[in-house]
Amino acid sequence: MLLGHPFILNTVEKLQGANFIPTWDSLVVKVPNNAASVPWHRDAAVPEDCQDSRPIFNVDFYLDNSDEHSCLWVIPGSQNWAASEAEERCSRPGFVTSDAVPVPMRAGDVILHNIQLLHGSPEGEGNALRRTVYYEFRAGEIEAEYGPHTLAYLPIKQRILQDCIIRRQQCGYAEGEQVYEYKPTGAFASYYHEAPLSYRIPHENYLRR
Ligand SMILES: [Fe+2]
Repeated sequence: MLLGHPFILNTVEKLQGANFIPTWDSLVVKVPNNAASVPWHRDAAVPEDCQDSRPIFNVDFYLDNSDEHSCLWVIPGSQNWAASEAEERCSRPGFVTSDAVPVPMRAGDVILHNIQLLHGSPEGEGNALRRTVYYEFRAGEIEAEYGPHTLAYLPIKQRILQDCIIRRQQCGYAEGEQVYEYKPTGAFASYYHEAPLSYRIPHENYLRR
């Protein structure tokens, strides 16, 4: 039901076009008093040779508050750095923040971050639970041409997205909401509208390499 959020899906469509695909999803839980630091990293790299300027990004839903002591830090503009520059920055010892900005969040807030943006978080000194749900989205045209998934993966994830939109429509708390209409075009329009058999789709079964 979270994936079917109309404000988020409208936003993704504006940035990536009508044929966007929810390519990845994950949940990160930081346990109270046991939150390890997350070193500087990029989530993924834009496919080599890709000239399409539409951004590939993650949508991070915060289920809990995340204050300036434990929150995510980002290095603005680092999504445009060359791989070598990013690697050099990530290899520096310790969690240096002199060129970074903190991103404190309230429960219910959402971050959209480019997959190439350098980000990480220091060791949490707080004793608060922090849960974050991540969805990655890619323009279908980019995914179809460059992967990393096979073409068979795309309609499966589109069916899951459509099913989530329907489930959200049926749940009580989204009553009165303007439902997001997923209307992919061309080759992306022919996916089945039935509910998928499973939401667990192992990436390793659908990777090109
Ligand atoms: Fe990350």
